[in-house]
Amino acid sequence: MKAPFALATGLALLVSTAIPSSAGDGVVRGDLSPKDLARVRAVTKPTSDFSKAEPFEIRQGGAGTSQHGANRDAFSQFAPNITFAEEQDFKLGNALFTKLWVSSPSSTQASDGLGPLFNARSCQSCHVKDGRGHPPEGDRDATSMFLRLARPPVTPEERSKLERLDVMSLPDPVYGGQLQDQAVPGLSAEGRMVITYDERAVTLAGGETIMLRKPTYSVAELAYGPLDPTTTLSPRIANPMIGLGLIEAIAAEDILALADPNDHDGDGVSGKAARARDHRTGEIKLGRFGWKAQNASVRDQSANAFAGDIGISTPDDPRSFGDCTPQQTACLAGATGVQARLGDTEAPDPVLDLVTFYAKNLAPPARRDVEDAEVLRGKQLFYESGCTACHTPKFVTSRKADNQAQAFQLIWPYSDFLLHDLGEDLADGQAVGDATGTEWRTPPLWGIGLTKTVNGHTFFLHDGRARSLTEAILWHGGEAQAARDAFAAANPEDRKALITFLESL
Ligand code: HEC
Ligand code: HEC
Repeated sequence: MKAPFALATGLALLVSTAIPSSAGDGVVRGDLSPKDLARVRAVTKPTSDFSKAEPFEIRQGGAGTSQHGANRDAFSQFAPNITFAEEQDFKLGNALFTKLWVSSPSSTQASDGLGPLFNARSCQSCHVKDGRGHPPEGDRDATSMFLRLARPPVTPEERSKLERLDVMSLPDPVYGGQLQDQAVPGLSAEGRMVITYDERAVTLAGGETIMLRKPTYSVAELAYGPLDPTTTLSPRIANPMIGLGLIEAIAAEDILALADPNDHDGDGVSGKAARARDHRTGEIKLGRFGWKAQNASVRDQSANAFAGDIGISTPDDPRSFGDCTPQQTACLAGATGVQARLGDTEAPDPVLDLVTFYAKNLAPPARRDVEDAEVLRGKQLFYESGCTACHTPKFVTSRKADNQAQAFQLIWPYSDFLLHDLGEDLADGQAVGDATGTEWRTPPLWGIGLTKTVNGHTFFLHDGRARSLTEAILWHGGEAQAARDAFAAANPEDRKALITFLESL
Protein backbone atom coordinates (compact mmCIF):
# COMPACT_ATOMS: atom_id res chain seq x y z
CA MET A 1 0.00 0.00 0.00
CA LYS A 2 0.82 3.66 0.29
CA ALA A 3 4.47 4.55 0.84
CA PRO A 4 6.65 7.60 0.20
CA PHE A 5 8.29 7.84 -3.21
CA ALA A 6 6.72 4.60 -4.36
CA LEU A 7 7.17 5.29 -8.03
CA ALA A 8 7.57 2.45 -10.47
CA THR A 9 10.63 3.04 -12.60
CA GLY A 10 9.83 4.60 -15.93
CA LEU A 11 6.59 6.10 -14.72
CA ALA A 12 8.52 9.17 -13.62
CA LEU A 13 8.09 10.30 -17.22
CA LEU A 14 4.37 10.19 -16.99
CA VAL A 15 4.15 12.13 -13.76
CA SER A 16 6.75 14.73 -14.61
CA THR A 17 4.39 17.40 -13.26
CA ALA A 18 4.12 15.64 -9.94
CA ILE A 19 6.46 16.57 -7.14
CA PRO A 20 7.07 13.94 -4.48
CA SER A 21 6.27 15.47 -1.10
CA SER A 22 7.86 14.37 2.13
CA ALA A 23 4.43 14.44 3.73
CA GLY A 24 3.97 10.77 2.90
CA ASP A 25 2.35 10.83 -0.50
CA GLY A 26 4.69 9.77 -3.27
CA VAL A 27 3.19 12.00 -5.93
CA VAL A 28 0.86 14.96 -5.93
CA ARG A 29 -1.88 15.67 -8.43
CA GLY A 30 -1.19 18.42 -10.89
CA ASP A 31 -4.85 19.17 -11.71
CA LEU A 32 -5.88 20.58 -8.33
CA SER A 33 -5.31 23.80 -6.40
CA PRO A 34 -3.96 23.30 -2.86
CA LYS A 35 -7.45 24.02 -1.54
CA ASP A 36 -9.07 21.40 -3.80
CA LEU A 37 -6.34 18.92 -2.93
CA ALA A 38 -7.10 19.28 0.76
CA ARG A 39 -10.82 18.76 0.08
CA VAL A 40 -10.12 15.69 -2.04
CA ARG A 41 -7.86 14.19 0.62
CA ALA A 42 -10.51 14.72 3.27
CA VAL A 43 -13.32 13.20 1.23
CA THR A 44 -11.33 10.15 0.05
CA LYS A 45 -9.94 9.34 3.51
CA PRO A 46 -11.10 5.83 4.50
CA THR A 47 -14.08 6.09 6.82
CA SER A 48 -14.01 4.82 10.38
CA ASP A 49 -17.69 5.43 11.08
CA PHE A 50 -19.76 2.40 10.15
CA SER A 51 -22.90 3.48 11.99
CA LYS A 52 -24.37 5.06 8.86
CA ALA A 53 -23.69 5.42 5.15
CA GLU A 54 -21.17 8.04 4.04
CA PRO A 55 -22.35 11.13 2.17
CA PHE A 56 -22.84 10.34 -1.56
CA GLU A 57 -21.92 6.67 -1.06
CA ILE A 58 -25.10 5.64 -2.84
CA ARG A 59 -23.90 7.32 -6.04
CA GLN A 60 -20.97 5.04 -6.85
CA GLY A 61 -20.31 6.78 -10.16
CA GLY A 62 -20.74 10.34 -8.85
CA ALA A 63 -22.98 12.45 -11.09
CA GLY A 64 -22.55 9.67 -13.67
CA THR A 65 -24.48 7.14 -11.56
CA SER A 66 -27.48 5.41 -13.13
CA GLN A 67 -30.72 5.52 -11.14
CA HIS A 68 -32.33 3.05 -13.52
CA GLY A 69 -32.94 0.39 -10.89
CA ALA A 70 -31.76 -3.14 -10.27
CA ASN A 71 -32.98 -5.01 -13.33
CA ARG A 72 -31.50 -6.77 -16.36
CA ASP A 73 -30.67 -3.45 -18.05
CA ALA A 74 -28.87 -2.07 -15.00
CA PHE A 75 -25.48 -1.90 -16.78
CA SER A 76 -26.75 -0.58 -20.12
CA GLN A 77 -27.63 3.00 -19.15
CA PHE A 78 -25.76 6.09 -20.30
CA ALA A 79 -24.32 8.39 -17.65
CA PRO A 80 -27.17 10.81 -16.80
CA ASN A 81 -24.86 13.85 -16.90
CA ILE A 82 -23.83 13.65 -20.57
CA THR A 83 -25.26 16.22 -23.00
CA PHE A 84 -28.11 15.57 -25.42
CA ALA A 85 -25.69 15.56 -28.38
CA GLU A 86 -23.49 13.04 -26.56
CA GLU A 87 -26.54 10.89 -25.90
CA GLN A 88 -26.90 10.56 -29.69
CA ASP A 89 -23.26 9.43 -30.00
CA PHE A 90 -23.86 6.95 -27.21
CA LYS A 91 -26.79 5.48 -29.14
CA LEU A 92 -24.76 5.22 -32.36
CA GLY A 93 -21.95 3.61 -30.35
CA ASN A 94 -24.42 1.17 -28.83
CA ALA A 95 -25.59 0.13 -32.31
CA LEU A 96 -21.97 -0.57 -33.30
CA PHE A 97 -21.31 -2.42 -30.03
CA THR A 98 -24.19 -4.81 -30.77
CA LYS A 99 -23.65 -4.97 -34.54
CA LEU A 100 -23.02 -8.47 -35.91
CA TRP A 101 -20.12 -8.37 -38.40
CA VAL A 102 -20.30 -10.71 -41.40
CA SER A 103 -17.64 -12.39 -43.50
CA SER A 104 -16.36 -10.92 -46.76
CA PRO A 105 -17.28 -10.66 -49.51
CA SER A 106 -20.84 -9.75 -48.66
CA SER A 107 -23.67 -7.68 -50.04
CA THR A 108 -23.91 -5.74 -46.78
CA GLN A 109 -20.58 -4.06 -47.40
CA ALA A 110 -20.54 -1.77 -44.39
CA SER A 111 -20.72 -4.76 -42.05
CA ASP A 112 -18.23 -7.18 -43.53
CA GLY A 113 -14.64 -8.05 -42.72
CA LEU A 114 -15.30 -10.54 -39.93
CA GLY A 115 -12.28 -12.73 -39.06
CA PRO A 116 -11.06 -14.64 -40.99
CA LEU A 117 -10.37 -16.11 -37.53
CA PHE A 118 -12.47 -14.73 -34.68
CA ASN A 119 -13.98 -15.37 -31.25
CA ALA A 120 -17.29 -13.60 -31.69
CA ARG A 121 -19.21 -11.51 -34.23
CA SER A 122 -19.97 -8.52 -31.98
CA CYS A 123 -18.71 -6.81 -28.85
CA GLN A 124 -22.01 -7.52 -27.14
CA SER A 125 -21.71 -11.30 -27.74
CA CYS A 126 -19.08 -11.36 -25.01
CA HIS A 127 -19.97 -8.28 -22.97
CA VAL A 128 -23.52 -9.61 -22.64
CA LYS A 129 -25.90 -6.88 -21.42
CA ASP A 130 -22.71 -4.79 -20.95
CA GLY A 131 -21.91 -7.17 -18.12
CA ARG A 132 -19.62 -10.04 -17.33
CA GLY A 133 -18.66 -13.09 -19.38
CA HIS A 134 -18.66 -16.64 -18.06
CA PRO A 135 -16.86 -19.92 -18.63
CA PRO A 136 -18.68 -22.50 -20.77
CA GLU A 137 -21.06 -24.49 -18.58
CA GLY A 138 -22.42 -27.79 -19.84
CA ASP A 139 -23.64 -27.17 -23.38
CA ARG A 140 -23.29 -23.42 -23.18
CA ASP A 141 -20.64 -22.12 -25.53
CA ALA A 142 -17.29 -20.50 -24.75
CA THR A 143 -17.96 -17.20 -26.52
CA SER A 144 -17.52 -14.76 -23.66
CA MET A 145 -14.21 -16.26 -22.53
CA PHE A 146 -11.01 -16.95 -24.43
CA LEU A 147 -7.40 -17.98 -24.03
CA ARG A 148 -4.62 -15.46 -24.51
CA LEU A 149 -1.42 -17.02 -25.86
CA ALA A 150 2.09 -15.78 -25.11
CA ARG A 151 5.59 -17.19 -24.89
CA PRO A 152 8.84 -16.03 -23.26
CA PRO A 153 11.43 -14.17 -25.38
CA VAL A 154 14.16 -16.13 -27.14
CA THR A 155 16.38 -13.56 -28.83
CA PRO A 156 17.94 -10.37 -27.41
CA GLU A 157 15.76 -8.38 -29.86
CA GLU A 158 12.61 -9.96 -28.47
CA ARG A 159 13.76 -9.28 -24.95
CA SER A 160 14.43 -5.62 -25.63
CA LYS A 161 11.09 -5.19 -27.43
CA LEU A 162 9.38 -6.41 -24.28
CA GLU A 163 11.53 -4.27 -22.03
CA ARG A 164 10.76 -1.17 -24.08
CA LEU A 165 7.06 -2.16 -23.99
CA ASP A 166 6.94 -2.01 -27.78
CA VAL A 167 4.95 -5.22 -27.38
CA MET A 168 3.22 -6.41 -24.20
CA SER A 169 3.83 -10.11 -24.92
CA LEU A 170 5.10 -12.34 -27.73
CA PRO A 171 2.57 -14.36 -29.72
CA ASP A 172 2.66 -18.07 -30.39
CA PRO A 173 4.50 -18.37 -33.74
CA VAL A 174 1.52 -20.12 -35.39
CA TYR A 175 -1.59 -19.27 -33.39
CA GLY A 176 -0.84 -15.64 -32.53
CA GLY A 177 -1.84 -13.81 -29.36
CA GLN A 178 -5.19 -15.45 -28.77
CA LEU A 179 -6.93 -18.73 -29.56
CA GLN A 180 -9.74 -18.08 -32.04
CA ASP A 181 -12.32 -20.83 -31.81
CA GLN A 182 -14.30 -19.65 -34.84
CA ALA A 183 -13.50 -19.01 -38.49
CA VAL A 184 -15.26 -17.81 -41.64
CA PRO A 185 -16.67 -20.51 -43.99
CA GLY A 186 -13.94 -22.54 -45.70
CA LEU A 187 -11.33 -21.90 -43.01
CA SER A 188 -10.59 -24.02 -39.92
CA ALA A 189 -11.02 -22.53 -36.47
CA GLU A 190 -7.80 -22.76 -34.45
CA GLY A 191 -9.02 -25.13 -31.79
CA ARG A 192 -11.28 -25.54 -28.80
CA MET A 193 -10.59 -24.50 -25.22
CA VAL A 194 -10.93 -27.45 -22.84
CA ILE A 195 -11.41 -26.92 -19.10
CA THR A 196 -11.30 -29.64 -16.49
CA TYR A 197 -12.06 -28.88 -12.86
CA ASP A 198 -10.73 -30.57 -9.71
CA GLU A 199 -12.87 -29.97 -6.66
CA ARG A 200 -11.33 -29.33 -3.27
CA ALA A 201 -12.99 -28.68 0.08
CA VAL A 202 -12.23 -25.74 2.34
CA THR A 203 -13.60 -25.63 5.89
CA LEU A 204 -14.38 -22.22 7.37
CA ALA A 205 -14.78 -21.10 10.98
CA GLY A 206 -18.06 -22.44 12.33
CA GLY A 207 -17.71 -25.67 10.32
CA GLU A 208 -19.14 -24.57 6.94
CA THR A 209 -17.52 -26.42 4.03
CA ILE A 210 -17.09 -24.73 0.66
CA MET A 211 -16.07 -26.58 -2.50
CA LEU A 212 -13.59 -24.77 -4.75
CA ARG A 213 -13.02 -25.95 -8.32
CA LYS A 214 -9.48 -25.63 -9.65
CA PRO A 215 -9.42 -25.39 -13.45
CA THR A 216 -6.83 -26.81 -15.84
CA TYR A 217 -6.75 -25.50 -19.41
CA SER A 218 -5.77 -27.16 -22.66
CA VAL A 219 -6.64 -26.89 -26.34
CA ALA A 220 -8.27 -29.65 -28.35
CA GLU A 221 -8.60 -29.97 -32.14
CA LEU A 222 -5.59 -27.78 -32.90
CA ALA A 223 -6.02 -27.17 -36.63
CA TYR A 224 -2.64 -25.65 -37.47
CA GLY A 225 -0.20 -28.07 -35.82
CA PRO A 226 1.09 -27.97 -32.25
CA LEU A 227 1.36 -24.90 -30.07
CA ASP A 228 4.90 -23.80 -29.33
CA PRO A 229 6.04 -25.82 -26.27
CA THR A 230 6.77 -22.57 -24.38
CA THR A 231 3.38 -20.97 -25.14
CA THR A 232 1.24 -20.38 -22.03
CA LEU A 233 -2.57 -20.21 -21.90
CA SER A 234 -4.21 -17.34 -20.03
CA PRO A 235 -7.96 -17.72 -19.64
CA ARG A 236 -10.00 -14.48 -19.48
CA ILE A 237 -13.69 -13.76 -19.14
CA ALA A 238 -15.11 -10.52 -20.52
CA ASN A 239 -15.15 -7.68 -17.96
CA PRO A 240 -18.26 -5.70 -17.11
CA MET A 241 -18.35 -2.45 -19.12
CA ILE A 242 -19.62 0.02 -16.51
CA GLY A 243 -17.79 3.14 -15.34
CA LEU A 244 -14.82 2.75 -17.71
CA GLY A 245 -14.64 6.47 -18.57
CA LEU A 246 -14.57 7.31 -14.88
CA ILE A 247 -11.72 4.84 -14.36
CA GLU A 248 -9.84 6.50 -17.20
CA ALA A 249 -10.48 9.88 -15.52
CA ILE A 250 -8.83 8.91 -12.21
CA ALA A 251 -5.66 10.99 -11.84
CA ALA A 252 -2.65 8.74 -12.54
CA GLU A 253 -0.95 10.33 -9.53
CA ASP A 254 -3.66 8.98 -7.22
CA ILE A 255 -3.12 5.42 -8.45
CA LEU A 256 0.67 5.78 -8.34
CA ALA A 257 0.48 7.07 -4.78
CA LEU A 258 -1.03 3.73 -3.74
CA ALA A 259 1.77 1.68 -5.30
CA ASP A 260 4.33 0.15 -2.99
CA PRO A 261 6.14 -2.34 -5.22
CA ASN A 262 8.73 -3.25 -2.60
CA ASP A 263 6.30 -3.24 0.32
CA HIS A 264 8.16 -0.53 2.20
CA ASP A 265 5.36 -0.20 4.70
CA GLY A 266 5.63 -3.92 5.50
CA ASP A 267 1.89 -4.67 5.44
CA GLY A 268 2.38 -7.69 3.13
CA VAL A 269 0.53 -5.92 0.31
CA SER A 270 2.67 -4.32 -2.37
CA GLY A 271 0.89 -3.22 -5.52
CA LYS A 272 2.68 -2.31 -8.69
CA ALA A 273 1.68 0.19 -11.35
CA ALA A 274 1.44 -1.29 -14.84
CA ARG A 275 2.81 0.65 -17.80
CA ALA A 276 1.46 0.50 -21.33
CA ARG A 277 2.15 2.39 -24.52
CA ASP A 278 -0.61 4.57 -25.88
CA HIS A 279 -1.32 2.99 -29.27
CA ARG A 280 -1.56 6.25 -31.16
CA THR A 281 1.17 8.38 -29.57
CA GLY A 282 3.55 5.67 -28.37
CA GLU A 283 3.78 7.46 -25.01
CA ILE A 284 4.25 5.33 -21.87
CA LYS A 285 1.18 5.67 -19.70
CA LEU A 286 -0.36 3.98 -16.70
CA GLY A 287 -2.02 0.67 -17.68
CA ARG A 288 -5.56 0.43 -16.29
CA PHE A 289 -7.66 -1.89 -18.44
CA GLY A 290 -7.82 -5.65 -18.89
CA TRP A 291 -7.19 -8.31 -16.24
CA LYS A 292 -3.46 -7.51 -16.34
CA ALA A 293 -3.84 -3.73 -16.78
CA GLN A 294 -2.27 -4.14 -20.19
CA ASN A 295 -4.02 -1.19 -21.85
CA ALA A 296 -3.83 2.49 -20.95
CA SER A 297 -7.17 3.50 -22.42
CA VAL A 298 -10.62 2.22 -23.27
CA ARG A 299 -9.88 3.17 -26.88
CA ASP A 300 -6.73 1.01 -27.02
CA GLN A 301 -8.51 -1.95 -25.43
CA SER A 302 -11.38 -1.53 -27.90
CA ALA A 303 -9.12 -1.35 -30.96
CA ASN A 304 -7.42 -4.56 -29.80
CA ALA A 305 -10.82 -6.18 -29.34
CA PHE A 306 -11.92 -5.26 -32.85
CA ALA A 307 -8.81 -6.85 -34.38
CA GLY A 308 -8.16 -9.73 -31.98
CA ASP A 309 -11.67 -10.81 -30.98
CA ILE A 310 -13.70 -10.02 -34.12
CA GLY A 311 -11.04 -9.66 -36.84
CA ILE A 312 -12.05 -6.12 -37.79
CA SER A 313 -9.38 -3.53 -38.60
CA THR A 314 -9.58 0.07 -37.36
CA PRO A 315 -7.14 2.94 -37.98
CA ASP A 316 -5.63 2.27 -34.50
CA ASP A 317 -5.13 -1.45 -35.12
CA PRO A 318 -5.17 -1.98 -38.89
CA ARG A 319 -4.97 -5.79 -38.87
CA SER A 320 -7.66 -6.70 -41.40
CA PHE A 321 -6.67 -10.34 -41.01
CA GLY A 322 -7.09 -10.03 -37.26
CA ASP A 323 -4.80 -12.31 -35.29
CA CYS A 324 -3.73 -14.48 -38.30
CA THR A 325 0.02 -15.13 -38.36
CA PRO A 326 2.26 -15.48 -41.43
CA GLN A 327 2.15 -19.25 -40.88
CA GLN A 328 -1.63 -19.23 -41.41
CA THR A 329 -1.48 -18.80 -45.17
CA ALA A 330 -5.08 -19.80 -45.95
CA CYS A 331 -6.26 -17.13 -43.53
CA LEU A 332 -4.10 -14.47 -45.17
CA ALA A 333 -5.32 -15.48 -48.64
CA GLY A 334 -8.95 -14.70 -47.78
CA ALA A 335 -10.94 -11.58 -48.64
CA THR A 336 -10.97 -8.56 -46.31
CA GLY A 337 -13.78 -6.09 -45.81
CA VAL A 338 -11.71 -3.06 -46.74
CA GLN A 339 -13.41 -0.79 -49.28
CA ALA A 340 -11.15 1.82 -50.77
CA ARG A 341 -13.98 4.37 -51.03
CA LEU A 342 -14.45 4.29 -47.23
CA GLY A 343 -10.81 4.16 -46.14
CA ASP A 344 -8.11 1.57 -45.70
CA THR A 345 -9.61 -0.31 -42.78
CA GLU A 346 -12.74 -2.42 -42.35
CA ALA A 347 -14.10 -0.09 -39.67
CA PRO A 348 -12.89 3.38 -40.67
CA ASP A 349 -13.47 6.46 -38.49
CA PRO A 350 -15.71 7.25 -36.72
CA VAL A 351 -16.54 3.63 -35.77
CA LEU A 352 -13.85 3.34 -33.09
CA ASP A 353 -14.63 6.86 -31.75
CA LEU A 354 -18.29 5.99 -31.31
CA VAL A 355 -17.71 2.56 -29.77
CA THR A 356 -15.14 4.08 -27.41
CA PHE A 357 -17.57 6.84 -26.45
CA TYR A 358 -20.23 4.25 -25.73
CA ALA A 359 -17.84 2.14 -23.66
CA LYS A 360 -16.71 5.15 -21.64
CA ASN A 361 -20.20 6.33 -20.76
CA LEU A 362 -21.99 3.27 -19.44
CA ALA A 363 -23.07 4.30 -15.96
CA PRO A 364 -22.32 2.40 -12.76
CA PRO A 365 -25.62 1.62 -10.99
CA ALA A 366 -26.67 3.29 -7.75
CA ARG A 367 -25.93 1.32 -4.58
CA ARG A 368 -28.77 -0.49 -2.84
CA ASP A 369 -29.43 -0.76 0.92
CA VAL A 370 -26.57 1.53 1.98
CA GLU A 371 -28.20 2.20 5.36
CA ASP A 372 -29.04 -1.44 6.05
CA ALA A 373 -27.47 -2.57 9.35
CA GLU A 374 -26.08 -5.80 7.90
CA VAL A 375 -24.58 -3.97 4.91
CA LEU A 376 -22.87 -1.49 7.24
CA ARG A 377 -21.55 -4.32 9.40
CA GLY A 378 -20.25 -6.05 6.26
CA LYS A 379 -18.64 -2.82 5.12
CA GLN A 380 -16.82 -2.58 8.44
CA LEU A 381 -15.53 -6.16 8.03
CA PHE A 382 -14.44 -5.35 4.48
CA TYR A 383 -12.29 -2.56 5.90
CA GLU A 384 -11.11 -4.52 8.96
CA SER A 385 -10.18 -7.66 7.00
CA GLY A 386 -7.76 -5.69 4.84
CA CYS A 387 -9.79 -5.85 1.61
CA THR A 388 -9.36 -2.08 1.16
CA ALA A 389 -5.57 -2.54 0.91
CA CYS A 390 -6.29 -3.31 -2.77
CA HIS A 391 -10.00 -2.63 -3.26
CA THR A 392 -9.57 1.14 -2.64
CA PRO A 393 -13.07 2.45 -1.92
CA LYS A 394 -13.05 5.94 -3.46
CA PHE A 395 -11.35 8.49 -5.67
CA VAL A 396 -12.11 11.98 -6.90
CA THR A 397 -11.46 12.01 -10.65
CA SER A 398 -9.20 14.51 -12.39
CA ARG A 399 -10.41 17.98 -13.29
CA LYS A 400 -8.58 17.38 -16.58
CA ALA A 401 -10.76 14.44 -17.68
CA ASP A 402 -11.31 14.22 -21.47
CA ASN A 403 -15.02 14.64 -20.96
CA GLN A 404 -16.32 17.16 -18.43
CA ALA A 405 -19.04 14.70 -17.41
CA GLN A 406 -16.31 12.58 -15.84
CA ALA A 407 -14.28 15.42 -14.29
CA PHE A 408 -13.99 15.94 -10.54
CA GLN A 409 -16.43 13.21 -9.54
CA LEU A 410 -16.39 11.34 -6.25
CA ILE A 411 -16.49 7.68 -7.36
CA TRP A 412 -16.46 4.35 -5.51
CA PRO A 413 -14.90 1.68 -7.76
CA TYR A 414 -13.29 -0.40 -4.96
CA SER A 415 -10.01 -0.90 -6.81
CA ASP A 416 -6.49 0.52 -6.74
CA PHE A 417 -6.02 -0.52 -10.41
CA LEU A 418 -2.59 -1.90 -9.47
CA LEU A 419 -1.06 -5.31 -10.10
CA HIS A 420 -0.90 -7.73 -7.18
CA ASP A 421 0.53 -11.20 -6.77
CA LEU A 422 -2.49 -13.29 -5.77
CA GLY A 423 -0.54 -16.52 -5.37
CA GLU A 424 0.13 -19.72 -7.30
CA ASP A 425 -3.44 -21.02 -7.31
CA LEU A 426 -4.68 -18.09 -9.41
CA ALA A 427 -1.50 -17.79 -11.50
CA ASP A 428 -1.66 -18.20 -15.27
CA GLY A 429 2.13 -18.23 -15.64
CA GLN A 430 1.86 -15.62 -18.40
CA ALA A 431 3.83 -12.37 -18.21
CA VAL A 432 2.20 -9.42 -19.97
CA GLY A 433 3.94 -6.04 -19.92
CA ASP A 434 4.83 -5.38 -16.29
CA ALA A 435 2.52 -8.12 -14.96
CA THR A 436 4.22 -11.37 -14.03
CA GLY A 437 2.61 -14.79 -14.30
CA THR A 438 1.17 -14.49 -10.79
CA GLU A 439 -0.06 -10.90 -10.98
CA TRP A 440 -3.51 -9.52 -11.70
CA ARG A 441 -5.03 -6.05 -11.67
CA THR A 442 -7.43 -5.49 -8.75
CA PRO A 443 -10.81 -5.51 -10.50
CA PRO A 444 -13.33 -2.80 -9.60
CA LEU A 445 -16.20 -4.16 -7.50
CA TRP A 446 -18.90 -1.61 -8.33
CA GLY A 447 -21.96 -3.33 -9.75
CA ILE A 448 -20.74 -6.78 -8.68
CA GLY A 449 -23.90 -7.36 -6.63
CA LEU A 450 -26.01 -7.11 -9.80
CA THR A 451 -24.16 -9.85 -11.70
CA LYS A 452 -26.94 -12.37 -11.18
CA THR A 453 -29.65 -9.84 -12.09
CA VAL A 454 -27.91 -8.70 -15.30
CA ASN A 455 -26.09 -11.83 -16.45
CA GLY A 456 -27.97 -14.64 -14.73
CA HIS A 457 -24.86 -16.13 -13.16
CA THR A 458 -22.38 -15.56 -10.34
CA PHE A 459 -19.07 -16.60 -11.90
CA PHE A 460 -16.19 -14.41 -10.72
CA LEU A 461 -12.41 -13.94 -11.07
CA HIS A 462 -10.43 -13.70 -14.32
CA ASP A 463 -11.54 -17.14 -15.50
CA GLY A 464 -14.93 -17.40 -13.83
CA ARG A 465 -13.79 -20.32 -11.67
CA ALA A 466 -15.51 -18.89 -8.57
CA ARG A 467 -19.21 -19.77 -8.52
CA SER A 468 -20.04 -17.28 -5.78
CA LEU A 469 -18.58 -14.25 -4.04
CA THR A 470 -17.53 -16.50 -1.14
CA GLU A 471 -15.52 -18.72 -3.49
CA ALA A 472 -13.95 -15.64 -5.12
CA ILE A 473 -12.66 -14.45 -1.74
CA LEU A 474 -11.37 -17.91 -0.79
CA TRP A 475 -9.24 -18.09 -3.95
CA HIS A 476 -7.29 -14.98 -2.86
CA GLY A 477 -3.70 -15.91 -1.94
CA GLY A 478 -0.26 -14.27 -2.17
CA GLU A 479 -0.50 -10.64 -1.07
CA ALA A 480 -4.18 -11.18 -0.21
CA GLN A 481 -3.61 -14.29 1.94
CA ALA A 482 -4.10 -12.44 5.26
CA ALA A 483 -7.36 -10.85 4.06
CA ARG A 484 -8.61 -14.22 2.81
CA ASP A 485 -7.68 -15.86 6.12
CA ALA A 486 -9.47 -13.14 8.09
CA PHE A 487 -12.61 -13.89 6.06
CA ALA A 488 -12.28 -17.66 6.55
CA ALA A 489 -11.76 -17.19 10.30
CA ALA A 490 -14.70 -14.80 10.78
CA ASN A 491 -17.87 -16.17 12.34
CA PRO A 492 -20.64 -17.20 9.89
CA GLU A 493 -22.80 -14.12 10.59
CA ASP A 494 -19.90 -11.79 9.89
CA ARG A 495 -19.04 -13.61 6.67
CA LYS A 496 -22.65 -13.33 5.60
CA ALA A 497 -22.63 -9.59 6.39
CA LEU A 498 -19.52 -9.07 4.25
CA ILE A 499 -21.16 -10.85 1.32
CA THR A 500 -24.34 -8.78 1.84
CA PHE A 501 -22.18 -5.65 1.61
CA LEU A 502 -20.64 -6.88 -1.69
CA GLU A 503 -24.14 -7.60 -2.98
CA SER A 504 -25.12 -3.99 -2.31
CA LEU A 505 -22.37 -2.67 -4.63
C1 HEC B 1 -14.71 -12.85 -27.68
C2 HEC B 1 -15.19 -12.09 -26.59
C3 HEC B 1 -15.01 -10.59 -26.63
C4 HEC B 1 -15.40 -9.73 -27.62
C5 HEC B 1 -16.03 -10.04 -28.95
C6 HEC B 1 -15.08 -8.40 -27.13
N1 HEC B 1 -14.53 -8.47 -25.89
FE1 HEC B 1 -13.95 -6.90 -24.75
N2 HEC B 1 -13.17 -8.18 -23.41
C7 HEC B 1 -13.19 -9.55 -23.50
C8 HEC B 1 -12.28 -10.11 -22.53
C9 HEC B 1 -12.01 -11.59 -22.33
C10 HEC B 1 -11.71 -9.03 -21.84
C11 HEC B 1 -10.59 -9.10 -20.82
C12 HEC B 1 -9.35 -9.06 -21.69
C13 HEC B 1 -8.03 -9.20 -21.00
O1 HEC B 1 -7.91 -8.97 -19.82
O2 HEC B 1 -7.08 -9.55 -21.69
C14 HEC B 1 -12.31 -7.82 -22.42
C15 HEC B 1 -12.03 -6.53 -21.97
C16 HEC B 1 -12.55 -5.38 -22.53
C17 HEC B 1 -12.35 -4.04 -22.02
C18 HEC B 1 -11.61 -3.68 -20.75
C19 HEC B 1 -12.55 -3.61 -19.57
C20 HEC B 1 -11.86 -3.43 -18.25
O3 HEC B 1 -12.57 -3.38 -17.22
O4 HEC B 1 -10.64 -3.37 -18.17
C21 HEC B 1 -12.96 -3.18 -22.89
C22 HEC B 1 -13.01 -1.67 -22.81
C23 HEC B 1 -13.53 -3.99 -23.95
N3 HEC B 1 -13.27 -5.32 -23.69
C24 HEC B 1 -14.20 -3.48 -25.04
C25 HEC B 1 -14.64 -4.26 -26.10
C26 HEC B 1 -15.17 -3.72 -27.33
C27 HEC B 1 -15.37 -2.26 -27.64
C28 HEC B 1 -15.47 -4.78 -28.13
C29 HEC B 1 -15.96 -4.79 -29.57
C30 HEC B 1 -15.11 -4.10 -30.51
C31 HEC B 1 -15.12 -5.98 -27.38
N4 HEC B 1 -14.62 -5.62 -26.17
C32 HEC B 1 -15.30 -7.26 -27.85
C33 HEC B 1 -13.93 -10.29 -24.39
C34 HEC B 1 -14.45 -9.79 -25.55
C1 HEC C 1 -3.63 -7.96 -2.36
C2 HEC C 1 -4.75 -7.31 -3.02
C3 HEC C 1 -6.14 -7.78 -2.70
C4 HEC C 1 -6.74 -7.91 -1.47
C5 HEC C 1 -6.14 -7.64 -0.10
C6 HEC C 1 -8.09 -8.36 -1.73
N1 HEC C 1 -8.29 -8.48 -3.07
FE1 HEC C 1 -10.00 -9.06 -3.96
N2 HEC C 1 -9.04 -9.15 -5.75
C7 HEC C 1 -7.74 -8.78 -5.98
C8 HEC C 1 -7.35 -9.17 -7.31
C9 HEC C 1 -6.01 -8.91 -7.95
C10 HEC C 1 -8.46 -9.84 -7.87
C11 HEC C 1 -8.54 -10.50 -9.25
C12 HEC C 1 -8.00 -11.93 -9.14
C13 HEC C 1 -8.32 -12.82 -10.31
O1 HEC C 1 -9.24 -12.55 -11.07
O2 HEC C 1 -7.65 -13.86 -10.47
C14 HEC C 1 -9.52 -9.77 -6.87
C15 HEC C 1 -10.81 -10.23 -7.07
C16 HEC C 1 -11.84 -10.08 -6.15
C17 HEC C 1 -13.22 -10.41 -6.41
C18 HEC C 1 -13.79 -10.88 -7.73
C19 HEC C 1 -13.96 -9.71 -8.66
C20 HEC C 1 -14.36 -10.05 -10.07
O3 HEC C 1 -14.63 -9.12 -10.83
O4 HEC C 1 -14.38 -11.23 -10.45
C21 HEC C 1 -13.92 -10.15 -5.25
C22 HEC C 1 -15.40 -10.32 -5.03
C23 HEC C 1 -12.96 -9.69 -4.27
N3 HEC C 1 -11.72 -9.64 -4.86
C24 HEC C 1 -13.26 -9.38 -2.97
C25 HEC C 1 -12.29 -9.19 -1.99
C26 HEC C 1 -12.57 -9.17 -0.56
C27 HEC C 1 -13.93 -9.29 0.06
C28 HEC C 1 -11.37 -9.00 0.06
C29 HEC C 1 -11.10 -8.99 1.55
C30 HEC C 1 -11.46 -10.21 2.26
C31 HEC C 1 -10.35 -8.88 -0.97
N4 HEC C 1 -10.95 -9.02 -2.19
C32 HEC C 1 -9.01 -8.64 -0.74
C33 HEC C 1 -6.91 -8.15 -5.07
C34 HEC C 1 -7.12 -8.15 -3.69
